[in-house]
Amino acid sequence: MKKILVTGGAGYIGSHICLKLSESGYQPVVYDNLSNGHRDAVAPNITFIHADIRDRDALDHAFETFRPDAVIHMAALIEAGLSMREPARFYEINTAGTLILLEAMRRHQCHRIVFSSTAAVYGNCDVNLLDETLPIRPENPYGRSKAMVEGLLTDYGVIYGFHALALRYFNAAGADPQGRIGERHDPETHLIPLALQAAAGHRDALKIFGNDYNTPDGTCIRDYIHVDDLAAAHIAALHHVLHQSKPGFDAINIGTGQGCSVRDIMRLCQEITGNSFAVSDAPRRPGDPARLVANPAKAEDMLNWQALYRNPRDMIMHAWAFYCKMAGPS
Ligand SMILES: NC(=O)c1ccc[n+]([C@@H]2O[C@H](COP(=O)([O-])OP(=O)(O)OC[C@H]3O[C@@H](n4cnc5c(N)ncnc54)[C@H](O)[C@@H]3O)[C@@H](O)[C@H]2O)c1
Repeated sequence: MKKILVTGGAGYIGSHICLKLSESGYQPVVYDNLSNGHRDAVAPNITFIHADIRDRDALDHAFETFRPDAVIHMAALIEAGLSMREPARFYEINTAGTLILLEAMRRHQCHRIVFSSTAAVYGNCDVNLLDETLPIRPENPYGRSKAMVEGLLTDYGVIYGFHALALRYFNAAGADPQGRIGERHDPETHLIPLALQAAAGHRDALKIFGNDYNTPDGTCIRDYIHVDDLAAAHIAALHHVLHQSKPGFDAINIGTGQGCSVRDIMRLCQEITGNSFAVSDAPRRPGDPARLVANPAKAEDMLNWQALYRNPRDMIMHAWAFYCKMAGPS
């Protein structure tokens, strides 16, 4: 059975990936410092290492003990807004931390990696669908910290013979369809869980940042991708890096190819929960592109993967089911 070291495996997306890995015949080993993750999001039968990716000794110990065949690297700080205020932390953890991990991989002859990148590397591109041939022009330190890792992986592919894939996720959403795990960020900054908190009466009015974009209803358009589809994309990507004979680096969009506006998401959240909540208009946030929608053709061609959940309604229903389970009987 192939062993996969999953950094950030106690986080939102990582915990869903670990479930999918176990179900697909892999043995995940989670490596997470729990700065933002949850110990109970990792199933008790999965090995859990409580450590930081910047800790060389802990990495050496993990590689010596488990001898993983590949790494899925998700550990990172994820809030673009925070990165505008504290860029150094993002470069230290997301970029320098990844370099420390890559060097540990090199010391232990583990040369296969799937990396969590982001649509934020594209920045503000005035195109309908974003494809991987577009230039990388991140607008914030978060996106730049990830773009820099894509640069590192390019060199590690050419010079050190790494097999590396970066998956550029669009907006992860939803929860495990069976309701076992879901999104629990604190503080929460993602639209759907914020709207569900408002629908549950756990938050006051929700803000729409910018209502004058050049979009049909004036609010930003995003490509929401179900976390279960994201997990499946990682299984496909892992298969690719484990079996590809030629080393190198490539980047692949993971999205549905369909956009949904902020206003539509709020309307759907009210409809699905049956609860209305107040929505107020606020100024645009710097660096927020009007539209971020993937062209997912490369993922279909290279990984034979495509999103099964194409309607944000399913993502909201699964997220709401998990939210209600966590909140307990009211
Ligand atoms: N959520 C999204 O919509 C989205 C979109 C694009 C890309 N991504 C990327 O996907 C990955 C996972 O995102 P998420 O939403 O699950 O975030 P998350 O915060 O829930 O998970 C990140 C995990 O990494 C861990 N971590 C952070 N710093 C660490 C360190 N120094 N050492 C060890 N562990 C550390 C945290 O404890 C957490 O469990 C991130 O790399 C993020 O940049 C997420």
